[in-house]
Amino acid sequence: MTLLGTTGTTLQNPSVDTIEIRGGRPLRGQVDVRGAKNLATKAMVASLLGSTPSTLRDVPSIRDVEVVRSLLEVHGVSVTDGEEEASLVLDPAGAESAGFEEIDAHSGSSRIPILFCGPLLHLLGQAFIPDLGGCRIGDRPIDFHLDALRNFGAVVDKQPNGIRLSAPDGLHGASIELPYPSVGATEQVLLTAVRAKGVTELRGAAIEPEIMDLIGVLQKMGAIISYEPNRVIFIEGVEELTGYDHRSLFDRNEAVSWACAALVTDGEIFVKGARQYELLTFLNVFRKVGGDFDITDDGITFRRGENPLKAVMVETDVHPGFMTDWQQPLIVALTQAEGTSVVHETVYENRFGFTDALVRMGADIVVHKDGIDAAERRVARRPLEQAAVISGPTPLKGIDMVVPDLRGGYSHVIAALAAQGTSRVTGIKLISRGYEKFLDKLTALGADFDVVG
Ligand code: EPZ
Repeated sequence: MTLLGTTGTTLQNPSVDTIEIRGGRPLRGQVDVRGAKNLATKAMVASLLGSTPSTLRDVPSIRDVEVVRSLLEVHGVSVTDGEEEASLVLDPAGAESAGFEEIDAHSGSSRIPILFCGPLLHLLGQAFIPDLGGCRIGDRPIDFHLDALRNFGAVVDKQPNGIRLSAPDGLHGASIELPYPSVGATEQVLLTAVRAKGVTELRGAAIEPEIMDLIGVLQKMGAIISYEPNRVIFIEGVEELTGYDHRSLFDRNEAVSWACAALVTDGEIFVKGARQYELLTFLNVFRKVGGDFDITDDGITFRRGENPLKAVMVETDVHPGFMTDWQQPLIVALTQAEGTSVVHETVYENRFGFTDALVRMGADIVVHKDGIDAAERRVARRPLEQAAVISGPTPLKGIDMVVPDLRGGYSHVIAALAAQGTSRVTGIKLISRGYEKFLDKLTALGADFDVVG
């Protein structure tokens, strides 16, 4: 296999899946973070609800967006590039039912298809959703989604290869209480309630910034949504919605990933587009670990502080807590911190798989399958929880590794960049699913690697 030097222009070639990294060099420079993967994909689905075209701006060019684009197109929605760079125009005028084979062929490894239910039921009175993909970080059930849809009056028919839904009498407002503030289930309710007949009361809602941005999109379309204290959201169904023009909020997960990369490699990275308000909890932890940051109007510069990194205790939680998507890159930094850190993962039941490779590199990480079961909880917890105990600092050496999932894979790469020696990382395509121009950004930051496959 020919080696392409890091000056090669084909680094962003989507077929690239294996790179060889020579570690030990700090990452320095700027990365431009585009719109949030976990908002843009949902806003694209919301365009189905409008009677006129929508324009979505600052759309990241990532596989998850391509999957939703092709799913919309098989349903007759025209999706074209907008005049502004990184914008899409979505016109639902030709929306129609799609065949199972087409839907299944385009669903890819995404979980987003489940969010098509409400909009397709409003538009066509029926929907077929194939079995979902998504990162293998837990069993990823959709019971909250299906219970909510039944509550709106949908008939849900589980089939061997997916779910067929129908709404012979249309969809009506509902009173829904989520057992856990699920992001996806909250989006499911929002995308269904806005056109249902009557009022929907949602209790126990997720309130992540991406959810609030989706509420902003729907309000622009003509929806009536009020956000009350204590995770209560009221939605008054309306007859018609029109298209939106929206610029997605920045991708918090990507901003946090590059912040941790600066910490891990002892570099300095300016994340253009990052904003303080949506990262408050992360910035506190970043400072406690020993990171330093400068906030300006157009971004945040992240670097390691003067002193050695320090161990911390972190528990992942729903917003406004420390997001579960942030613990993977942070743990790589904690392997270099003095002392013993604990990361308690309370959202997913299998999200420490990526630490196996870090241990093979020399990290001292013990994962406890049964987490810390505290008596009082702000939000009802799922029984399965886990804790990772990280003792440092430990030198990391380069190894060959295969990327397990999106955020774990990113963490493998920054660990390899910090390690002494060479690592071969396979599965880069999985990382490019959620990080736009990932290899180009690594090159711009001075990473020393070659494409080998
Ligand atoms: C979204 O996943 C994000 N993905 C995830 O980011 C993120 O980690 C997660 O929210 C939490 O913030 C997208 O937005 C595409 P959940 P989602 O429903 O909606 C359980 C990334 O790396 N649950 O809030 O699937 C579930 O098993 C990805 O960008 C049920 O039990 O997350 C989990 O334990 C990874 N039944 C918990 O709730 C349900 O019906 C939180 O899941 C739904 C969820």
